[in-house]
Amino acid sequence: MTNYSEEQTSILEIQGKTPLRGETYISGAKNSALVLMAGGILCSEDCRLRNLPLLVDIERMTQILAAVGVKLQRNGDILDINAKDIGQDQAPYELVSQLRASFFVIGPLLARLGMTRVPLPGGCAIGARPVDLHVRGLQAMGADVRIEHGVVHACVKGSRKRLQGAKIYLDYPSVGATETIMMAATLAEGETIIENAAQEPEIIDLANFCRSMGARIKGAGSNKIVVSGVERLHSTDYSVIPDRIEAGTLLIAGAITQSEISLAPVVPEHLASVIAKLREVGPQVIIEDSNRLRLIPAPLRATDLKTLPFPGFPTDMQAQFMALLTVSEGSSMVTETVFENRLRHVAELQRMGADIRVKGNIALVQGIPFLSGAPVMATDLRASAALVLAGLAAQGTTIVQGLHHLDRGYDNLEAKLRKLGANIRRVKVTDDQDNIEYSAVS
Ligand code: EPZ
Repeated sequence: MTNYSEEQTSILEIQGKTPLRGETYISGAKNSALVLMAGGILCSEDCRLRNLPLLVDIERMTQILAAVGVKLQRNGDILDINAKDIGQDQAPYELVSQLRASFFVIGPLLARLGMTRVPLPGGCAIGARPVDLHVRGLQAMGADVRIEHGVVHACVKGSRKRLQGAKIYLDYPSVGATETIMMAATLAEGETIIENAAQEPEIIDLANFCRSMGARIKGAGSNKIVVSGVERLHSTDYSVIPDRIEAGTLLIAGAITQSEISLAPVVPEHLASVIAKLREVGPQVIIEDSNRLRLIPAPLRATDLKTLPFPGFPTDMQAQFMALLTVSEGSSMVTETVFENRLRHVAELQRMGADIRVKGNIALVQGIPFLSGAPVMATDLRASAALVLAGLAAQGTTIVQGLHHLDRGYDNLEAKLRKLGANIRRVKVTDDQDNIEYSAVS
């Protein structure tokens, strides 16, 4: 009997080697929805966001926005936001510490109020996650920013209390820093230029959202973004792009189980590097009707993989792709260049028989014929997805623990996989010391 620690509330039980088939659906993008919610603070009128995924992180962001005075109404995948009455209240640290993306509120609050206090987000499982590039960008725009007792105090200097446009070069194309600066710049006085900007699809989505409220932004998606500040923004009704990482994760579910599956809706160009890498490993990936992907399985061959800022291969797909490479014939080299501690899924994959050796930020993966099911513990969001994928391919039963990581970033992943025919179910574990009881949840 596996001894689950008492805080375990549910686990995923996966019977491997079940072929998948058919089509499943893709939810709205977590990493777009979170920043668009913060962007709603820029406007003092009603804003409506559509296609929001049902995720713990979205719920936490809702709580953080409410804590600073935003009125919110959630109705299925629709979220109505009104930031007319935002105040000086500070987002509570216990919420910020659970959701780093809460730091996205600092730019909009500063742009609207001229001053704000936001707890410094801590690090997380994958790295220290500093915010120095965010802070330096706001300072360049005329804010006095200091960190005291774990709280970032930001105040616009001068009597006008309005940020000033500036020319900012990012030492690293940080997604979050690009988003913070771009949002703050929409209401600044004058023009802001962001050089070496991040080019992720979520940046374009945020720019399109802000432009739908009247912001003047050019160049989003390139490494140079130009924002001309305006006095105020107006209401909007905006739909979030599909989640490219969820789509990439489900493509690998098809490849790793040798199954033909299809996914919709997707934006194919958001997945160009993932599709190219999958084709290198063997499967065919066919684009149908401009918003559907079909994967045709094939024998899996090793390849090398290096994570890079967009349009390079996304770090958020590294763990999932490594799971695929553990059963791809030959030797693969996986290099993680974006985060300093994002190879923690290796130990758990090794428990399933994977042949992986890690040296620094490089993992050498030797493909084996099959993985063996085992109880495994998720360590972070994308690692948990990698373990689910490995379980789908493994011989026997895999029990994935630590589902609080998975539920942060995947909208009912097991339901989407079951729709494809996977033998996977969420089991509630009640541990009253003497004996453990299991009751199927889904
Ligand atoms: C966003 O995080 C995503 N999160 C991450 O997704 C994603 O992995 C990452 O972008 C890269 O694509 C959200 O959008 C909510 P970064 P972010 O700033 O903005 C360093 C997931 O699994 N850096 O581009 O924090 C940083 O330490 C999550 O969905 C600084 O040094 O990523 C890292 O090494 C995980 N100083 C690198 O840049 C800063 O001020 C990339 O970070 C900011 C970042």
